[in-house]
Amino acid sequence: MKIAIAGKGGVGKTTISGILCRVFGQTGKSVLAIDGDPNPNLSRILGIDPNQVPPPNLSTDILERVEKADGTRKIIVKSPMEEVLNIYGQDAPDQVTLLKVGTPDVAGAGCMCGSHTCVREIIHTAMSADNDHVTLLDMEASMEHMRRGTAKHVDIMLTVVEPYYRSLEAAGRFASLSKELGISRVYAVANKVHNEREQEAVDQFCKNQGLELLITIPFDPNVGEADLIGKSIMDYKENSLIILKARELAELLSNIPIQVPLN
Ligand SMILES: Nc1ncnc2c1ncn2[C@@H]1O[C@H](COP(=O)(O)OP(=O)(O)OP(=O)(O)O)[C@@H](O)[C@H]1O
Ligand SMILES: [Mg+2]
Repeated sequence: MKIAIAGKGGVGKTTISGILCRVFGQTGKSVLAIDGDPNPNLSRILGIDPNQVPPPNLSTDILERVEKADGTRKIIVKSPMEEVLNIYGQDAPDQVTLLKVGTPDVAGAGCMCGSHTCVREIIHTAMSADNDHVTLLDMEASMEHMRRGTAKHVDIMLTVVEPYYRSLEAAGRFASLSKELGISRVYAVANKVHNEREQEAVDQFCKNQGLELLITIPFDPNVGEADLIGKSIMDYKENSLIILKARELAELLSNIPIQVPLN
């Protein structure tokens, strides 16, 4: 299952991504967490020890330009995904592997691709790998990935919304761009909802947009408390409301039928 998480800045994409990855991992699935943000911070919420030596930064050297049968050229990732992960991946608790792709080094050798191409190709390769892993992409807040088609191979796009106008408006844009990319399963996830009035605002917006609201995650003060002491919420209070809701969300996602492509 390949999931991408999008939304306006600060709505909670990384928090939800990290918790979801750990929750999926706890159900016995192996999980690849892709941090697609040029300011990566998924590792903290995944609970990776900040003192752990990080893997080398991804480099455009992993790409090469190859000629197709029809004479046109395309860019591919040179090595199998497993090898890429052995070098550039980082272990997190609960069978999660983190891969940071947001700011690859643009190497002099190789195919001279720019960093955007590298990000797109590595995400495409990870997303098209034939495996039964959960792959989850935490996207940057800008529409850049969407415009470049980076996320087009995902099975499910979650657009996170907070109950205020600009966040809802951005969610609408993410949802329509996702549909333009051919992603058929696009859902909203409401986050940091405080009360019934905010819930109604989100419900109304989703109804107007024809967007299915998969779940509402309430505002949970434990998230901030864990953050203040530099811990992942997953290793702070395991029965926090946000984690209970993430478990529900993981189950809902697991029950969405995904068509497996024939080739
Ligand atoms: N359900 C929640 N309850 C309380 N606080 C939350 C909740 N979800 C996220 N937060 C807080 O909201 C802030 C933004 O969260 P996060 O970094 O996950 O957002 P983001 O969408 O990834 O942001 P960016 O666009 O900068 O990548 C953080 O301080 C986080 O602790
Ligand atoms: Mg983020």
